[in-house]
Amino acid sequence: MRISVHTFFSRLLTVTALLGAASFAAAATVEVYKSPTCKCCAKWVDHMRANGFTVNTNDVGNKEARERAGISTALGSCHTALVDGYAIEGHVPAQDIKRLLKERPRAIGLAVPGMPHGSPGMEGARSEPYNVLLIDKQGSTTVFSRHGPADPKDSVMRLK
Ligand code: CU
Ligand code: CU
Repeated sequence: MRISVHTFFSRLLTVTALLGAASFAAAATVEVYKSPTCKCCAKWVDHMRANGFTVNTNDVGNKEARERAGISTALGSCHTALVDGYAIEGHVPAQDIKRLLKERPRAIGLAVPGMPHGSPGMEGARSEPYNVLLIDKQGSTTVFSRHGPADPKDSVMRLK
């Protein structure tokens, strides 16, 4: 059977897309350790599910899970999640987790320390700028992505 070059490449693309989808689906079960009463944890879980992740919740608090993952309390937030060999601390946007799972850096995972207003699960009247931090195997951090409104000082400058 002869197939044209165009057909060959479009079939190759289909196979690649299917493999990509399969590897994402396999990687997508997220184990979340959270408090049974925290509302913002539950809202973050909803955000993850809305973005295609399968989530299993463990209502046992997150202190032990965070310690086991090697994340310091200084980087701590209200919930800790484990997905495909990485730990995710706090209100990290799903898009950043998808990027992490695609790029697969050597790292413990991602953290949004504290609970910044306007992060996924923390939506409300206020929003503030916050960074998603990449935690390397030694526990040091670098900025993985920036979110939220621009620095308020900038908007004051623009208003003048
Ligand atoms: Cu929270
Ligand atoms: Cu939480």
